[in-house]
Amino acid sequence: MESIKRTKIIDVLRREDYGATVNVKGWVRTKRGSKAVNFIALNDGSTINNVQIVADVTKFDEEMLKQITTGACLSVNGELVQSIGSGQNVEIQAKEIELLGACPSDYPMQKKGQSFEYMRQHAHMRLRTNTFGAVMRIRHNMAIAIHKFFHDRGFFYFNTPIITASDCEGAGEMFQVTTKNLYDLKKDENGSIIYDDDFFGKMTSLTVSGQLEGELGATALGQIYTFGPTFRAENSNTPRHLAEFWMIEPEVAFIDKDELMDLEEEFIKYCVQWALDNCQDDLAFLNKMIDKTLIERLQSVVSTDFVRLTYTEGIKILEDAIAGGKKFEFPISWGGDLASEHERYLVEEHFKKPVIMTDYPREIKAFYMKTNEDGKTMQGTDVLFPQIGEIIGGSVREENYDKLMHEIEVRNIPMKDMWWYLDTRKFGSCPHAGFGLGFERLILFVTGMQNIRDVIPFPRTPKTAEF
Ligand code: 4AD
Ligand code: MG
Repeated sequence: MESIKRTKIIDVLRREDYGATVNVKGWVRTKRGSKAVNFIALNDGSTINNVQIVADVTKFDEEMLKQITTGACLSVNGELVQSIGSGQNVEIQAKEIELLGACPSDYPMQKKGQSFEYMRQHAHMRLRTNTFGAVMRIRHNMAIAIHKFFHDRGFFYFNTPIITASDCEGAGEMFQVTTKNLYDLKKDENGSIIYDDDFFGKMTSLTVSGQLEGELGATALGQIYTFGPTFRAENSNTPRHLAEFWMIEPEVAFIDKDELMDLEEEFIKYCVQWALDNCQDDLAFLNKMIDKTLIERLQSVVSTDFVRLTYTEGIKILEDAIAGGKKFEFPISWGGDLASEHERYLVEEHFKKPVIMTDYPREIKAFYMKTNEDGKTMQGTDVLFPQIGEIIGGSVREENYDKLMHEIEVRNIPMKDMWWYLDTRKFGSCPHAGFGLGFERLILFVTGMQNIRDVIPFPRTPKTAEF
């Protein structure tokens, strides 16, 4: 076969120089045709769109043509011709076809319309489907948008450790990291495991958040963001939780609660607008196949002001709703943590807009948040989204050494592990604030997908670590 430089299908579909000779390579989506001609839809992952290959049956080996089945990988040399029937402007009249990889009939993505559950069991192959191709291209685009947003605003990309000896969120849902022989654990007289001879000489885990180290960065560089893998051993089998997910955590010196909320809102809107501007074909596909109101919802988010509401006001609305006959599965009253159904009621039914909820009771929030003057609430600023619930968790940080110490003490957080964090408040302390956005929750929103397991290539959840 003649060697011609490969053109990606996304580029071929934009060309109008009919008559040119091109090479494309990709995987067969479908093949149909008659005795005389075969029409092969070829996709190489560069775009949701396929290029149609037209093969004159008499010009090719019959046995080779038989092996062109769904999933097979081909290299095609041919002439670019104007197309009338294929839904695209161009198609390729094949001159030479090389079968790079045949695809036997037990190919797991053979059939169309398989359930998402089935596809999760074949996550190694589901990437080849239209839906997962679209989701993964959008996921990439969102990562680029995030870096661009922060870079353009003078934030520095700051890498925090994945292995850590501190529990940022204090929820104790950490995966331990050890090189100890689990069959032969040495314990002290109280039955506690001795870590002196472990790799790090102390108990270590995978990080639940890069925030604490991020604060060290922000109180030196002014404004930083992290973007990395995050691990939570919470045994919650929900469509919104992963054991391994990616989090973006900006941290900014010298801003207050209002400026923090402005940053949260501007950031999300920027990412959603980026998808609308840069992922049109994939969004159009998902809008047609997954969720007919997707694009409308994305447009509505970028054009509306988010509601800013205190926790106390939110509870009042929920209590009024209950008094008016609204039924929730879980009870809610002042002091309690909102369940997903409460968040979604506020966002989807009451306001019909994203909500930034602020000033939570201190008992339900982490130790590092700034306490309000009432002594009862803390300056948290969570963003609640339609379909998703909490998409961002953020707060102003307590910069006062004594107040922070007090929170650490009442929560029984081991002091010796926190000395380096406390040093930020001891030496040149400054007001600062930040937030964490769950990357996959953003992708859920932007793609209209229903389950967080379907917006990350290889999901980690309780009892699943395949692939
Ligand atoms: O609200 P969280 O726990 O906040 C923090 O970790 C703070 N340290 C962030 C900060 O202020 N720098 O988590 C932040 C976000 C949540 O709003 C949610 O979007 C996402 O992380 N998240 C998860 N996403 C997927 N699976 C999980 N198990 C998640 N847990 C949290
Ligand atoms: Mg949270």
